[in-house]
Amino acid sequence: MAQKVIINTDVEQALISRHIYGHFAEHLGRCIYEGFWVGEDSSIPNTNGIRNDVVHALKKLNIPVLRWPGGCFADEYHWKDGVGPKEERKRMVNTHWGGVVENNHFGTHEFMMLCEMLETEPYICGNVGSGAVQEMAEWVEYLTFNGESPMAEWRRRNGRDEAWKLTYFGVGNENWGCGGNMRPEFYADLYRRYQTYVKKYGDNNLYKIAGGASVDDYKWTEVLMREAAPLMDGLSLHHYTIPGDIWEEKGSATDFTEDEWAVTMKKALYMDTLITKHRSIMDKYDPEERVGLIVDEWGTWFDVEPGTNPGFLYQQNTIRDALVAGVTLNIFNNHAKRVHMANIAQTINVLQSMILTDKERMILTPTYHVFDMYQVHQEAQKLPLDIQKLNMLNANGDEYPQINASASKNNNGTVHISLCNMDAGNGADIEVDLRGITENLNVTGKILTASTRNERNTFEDPENVKPQEFTSFSTHGTIVKLQLPPMAVVVLKINENHSF
Ligand code: AHR
Repeated sequence: MAQKVIINTDVEQALISRHIYGHFAEHLGRCIYEGFWVGEDSSIPNTNGIRNDVVHALKKLNIPVLRWPGGCFADEYHWKDGVGPKEERKRMVNTHWGGVVENNHFGTHEFMMLCEMLETEPYICGNVGSGAVQEMAEWVEYLTFNGESPMAEWRRRNGRDEAWKLTYFGVGNENWGCGGNMRPEFYADLYRRYQTYVKKYGDNNLYKIAGGASVDDYKWTEVLMREAAPLMDGLSLHHYTIPGDIWEEKGSATDFTEDEWAVTMKKALYMDTLITKHRSIMDKYDPEERVGLIVDEWGTWFDVEPGTNPGFLYQQNTIRDALVAGVTLNIFNNHAKRVHMANIAQTINVLQSMILTDKERMILTPTYHVFDMYQVHQEAQKLPLDIQKLNMLNANGDEYPQINASASKNNNGTVHISLCNMDAGNGADIEVDLRGITENLNVTGKILTASTRNERNTFEDPENVKPQEFTSFSTHGTIVKLQLPPMAVVVLKINENHSF
């Protein structure tokens, strides 16, 4: 029996912030070094040290915001070590990620240059765990102050005259763990103190983000909202999709059973429960929904690829990752009123990446293609959607739905619907019932799918999984009947035909 998706196209519920389609790049493994940064002297084509192929590919995604420098790295990063002549920059040990030497060649100027090249907004995460209040205050002064001051002068001596524009600033990361192992009461007080000195200079408006909860730590959200809500613009949340039950056995990125597929889908869907529950706590202290829930780390986390450095978190990316991306982005779209931003971890060569590199070679992952297909939702109005007659699937005794979806309407009146079939073995017949629209519809679609559940792109076969035109549908008045194959992400574009 067909599952039914009812969409009210004339009821606009909330703006889907483009920042939901944000990214995260940490000094971890080969994300910054080799991924983005190869240095000016590299034989790999680059502009001022940044890979041209990577910039070209990422620009196509319209990346709205990029979080940096971590992650756990942020709370042991001292920004002053990463400015000035490169040969004089202090070297340090990256204790969290593989114990490798960090030469600080990629620092503040290089990151801001990268953001300019990508035409993306920077989101900088400051150091609360091991850094001083003054250090954080001076970073913001260095970045954003245009007048006469010690930091502004130093920036000018380092080659940048004009202050940069910086909106998003995180006051610490995972302060319940790698960012200081704090209790929420203690961090809430530290947040209040540190953010006081994160100043707005001139017309640079800051959006301050407090370090939020791990997964289902609702107490953390309760305490932070109770103690500091008026002093923050956003509160973060981290949740990774990890199929294994123990940290040492998360599961392989490419070699997994049908059961592991199902568990992965169910765990990805858990994001909806998390947001709903954290949201209801936030609603209590902030009924106007002024404070954004910032999901600034999410994505799949599997065992590293055999033979690679365990501290580098390098994993392949299959059609399963594409489904996790599609499902999660649908969840964010559907919570657009409260979710102001999300940042997938991480952009290149780490966890659920968009891009994998091998020296001069680069491939796009299935996750990249989902971000590409879904960019139509950026800054569009979220439409209400109701799914009926849902087929339920089984993951180790727990039920989860076969399909999930979100819909939006852009400024031109075009409706986009993104649908995921999470079933690895069976197709899904779906009837999309469009309300508030005339009968003369023009429908087109794109699909990302595969024939086996671990299909992926490799350096030998870089275009194995890529979007295709989707034609398995028919229109009947305002009803669109679709046949989705197993493990598929589909985006439909719907316009009303106006014939005069
Ligand atoms: O993304 C990898 C790590 O996961 C980040 O550094 C940390 O914040 C989280 O635990």
